[in-house]
Amino acid sequence: MLTLGDERREYLAGALDDHYLPEQPDEFFKYWMEEALKKEPYDPTACVLSTANENSVPSSRVVLLKHYQQNEYWFFGNRESRKGKELQANPVASLLFYWPKLIRQVRIEGRVEELDFEKAKEYFLTRPEEARAASLASDQGKEIESRSDLEKKYNIALKELHNHPNVIPKSWTGWKLKANVYEFWQGREARLHDRIMYRKGESNWIRKRLQP
Ligand SMILES: Cc1cc2nc3c(=O)[nH]c(=O)nc-3n(C[C@H](O)[C@H](O)[C@H](O)COP(=O)(O)O)c2cc1C
Repeated sequence: MLTLGDERREYLAGALDDHYLPEQPDEFFKYWMEEALKKEPYDPTACVLSTANENSVPSSRVVLLKHYQQNEYWFFGNRESRKGKELQANPVASLLFYWPKLIRQVRIEGRVEELDFEKAKEYFLTRPEEARAASLASDQGKEIESRSDLEKKYNIALKELHNHPNVIPKSWTGWKLKANVYEFWQGREARLHDRIMYRKGESNWIRKRLQP
């Protein structure tokens, strides 16, 4: 049996002292994201998106955060995928960021809406050609017989892009999660971690410190 019980380390990368906690959670997020962009070596914008279907069965996957503004968090993908269907049936979700070098975790929860087509299109057209061809070629989540069938679809999509550079896959979309709960977690020595939670009230954000 393989045991991971000895995989321990001390968490000594920062502190959330009461006197410098921001009033606004999106300012807090910006501050941490900017630090993660400088210090985390891989995919600092990657986060785990969790959704649930109409029977409350959960599912999670990594997506890349592409934009944030005023408590809105934008990500992109395929409307016909599992996440797309679940978000349609049950438009609530959570995003989870884990930044191991900084020993930080951020949880964000809220309602999700599809972005306007123009926004989804605008972002799609900024993607490199290979990424656009891959999205055009892929019916995300549907079974395919072989890798070579997938590569054939990709080559057809590349040709199509050469002839029509502005083509968008018909199920391409983006979503915005409108945050109503945040939790910022900073790992600290002796497992006495800091946890700061924000919940959206009627007119302001209510901030609490939680026990680790
Ligand atoms: C680092 C990383 C980044 C990813 N970024 C995205 C993304 O931005 N959008 C997306 O739809 N899938 C992205 N994926 C793939 C998803 O994790 C997932 O496989 C895909 O969206 C299908 O999920 P679903 O079947 O639950 O809808 C990423 C995966 C990884 C590991």
